[in-house]
Amino acid sequence: MRSVVLLSVVVVGLATTAVNGQLPTPEPLQTPEPSTEYPPEATTPGPPTTPGLEPDDLQLAEECDEELCKLPNCRCSSTDIPGGLLPRDTPQFVTITFDDAVNVINTVTYRNLLNGRKNSNGCPVGATFYVSHEYTNYKLVNELYNQGYEIALHSISHRTPQSYWATATYNDIKQEIADQRVQIAHFANIPFESVKGVRLPFLQLSGNTSFQVMADYGLEYDCSWPTGAFREPGLWPYTLDYASIQDCMTPPCPTASIPKTWVLPMVSWTDLDGFPCAMADSCHFTPDLDDEEVWYKFIVGNFEKHYLGNRAPFGFYIHEWYLASNPAVQAAFVRFMNLISNLPDAFMVNSSEVLDWVKNPIPVNEYRAKSCRTWSPTACAFQPDCGPLEGPNGMSYWMGACNVCPSVYPWTGNPFGM
Ligand SMILES: *[C@@H]1O[C@H](CO)[C@@H](O)[C@H](O)[C@H]1NC(C)=O
Ligand SMILES: *[C@@H]1O[C@H](CO)[C@@H](O)[C@H](O)[C@H]1NC(C)=O
Ligand SMILES: [Zn+2]
Repeated sequence: MRSVVLLSVVVVGLATTAVNGQLPTPEPLQTPEPSTEYPPEATTPGPPTTPGLEPDDLQLAEECDEELCKLPNCRCSSTDIPGGLLPRDTPQFVTITFDDAVNVINTVTYRNLLNGRKNSNGCPVGATFYVSHEYTNYKLVNELYNQGYEIALHSISHRTPQSYWATATYNDIKQEIADQRVQIAHFANIPFESVKGVRLPFLQLSGNTSFQVMADYGLEYDCSWPTGAFREPGLWPYTLDYASIQDCMTPPCPTASIPKTWVLPMVSWTDLDGFPCAMADSCHFTPDLDDEEVWYKFIVGNFEKHYLGNRAPFGFYIHEWYLASNPAVQAAFVRFMNLISNLPDAFMVNSSEVLDWVKNPIPVNEYRAKSCRTWSPTACAFQPDCGPLEGPNGMSYWMGACNVCPSVYPWTGNPFGM
């Protein structure tokens, strides 16, 4: 019933925003600053900011004490709204994320779907790209960054099998994730500090390990941990100072105290048979893939569990191929984004903006009145793609880059391809 009400509200504002998924012309790129601004710390993989924690140093996390664990740097895992706000005073954040390599094909979809789109407060929408290195074109990563989207980490190799990640060592994760941060900053020529988030391949957690690496290398948040138990109401982001109440759907999950590292729980959607799905494209019982109308209602129904509930951030986690190969799903997604753009208290933002709000929660009317977030544009000087570059297993690769070409294809253990 409630969906129907929302639906009719939207249709009114829809026609001007988009017709058949065609969006207004993308805005031009910001004027790039000279690439000499390139952050020097990104040229060498720096040592950990604190000495690497040995597994023995880890303490089992204790039950969270709200008196000791306070914002902005600590938050107990809970479904409570940060700052004790009422749902109606809480901005409903929508986090759209895309995973895997960024290439010339999927970038076209990203441009069409996102560029030029605004939230109801007039600010450009945010989205987060969890980029894996293999086959990524870094010129396009630079473009996404310069459109205002957030760039985050999804490993260098994205290797199979999934079990590799479950048992990965500290050094494995350091080479896949911490080294990827300096790699992406270098080849895409984007600020090292702008890269803060991690999503592990296959959403396969590695116990305490990836969080230890994140803490040691200054990475702020993880968005790999699905919850099925805390869907309605949804779990809000929290830190790992104390024990998490979150259910562990892809064990092993962290149980140690790892201060100041944030978990952005992937609050699962509920499919048509009531089963949880961590990513929109991993639901099992979905509407017919050709049925835009039912897909739209499916998305809105999941959104309403948040919007009409405790307003925990609503994740729209998807892979581009799913939208590209299912035009009706893509059309439903566009209609959903149009809905959000027309709601005064919902905002499509990138993941680190959600965290910024959680650390310092303000009522939605104050949030709306804030000026839009800015970022420093960075250049990508024209150069032909690098290659052929010799890669792992004797394969050869081409790679677009905003920096001098490497001598071999960059890989784990050699993130700059020297
Ligand atoms: C994480 O660390 C805690 C505390 O040292 C330990 O009890 C637990 O077994 C560790 N988890 C894994 C999967 O190793
Ligand atoms: C996040 O999104 C906003 C738009 O909502 C954008 O202005 C900002 O630059 C984005 N990027 C990062 C890295 O935060
Ligand atoms: Zn992936």
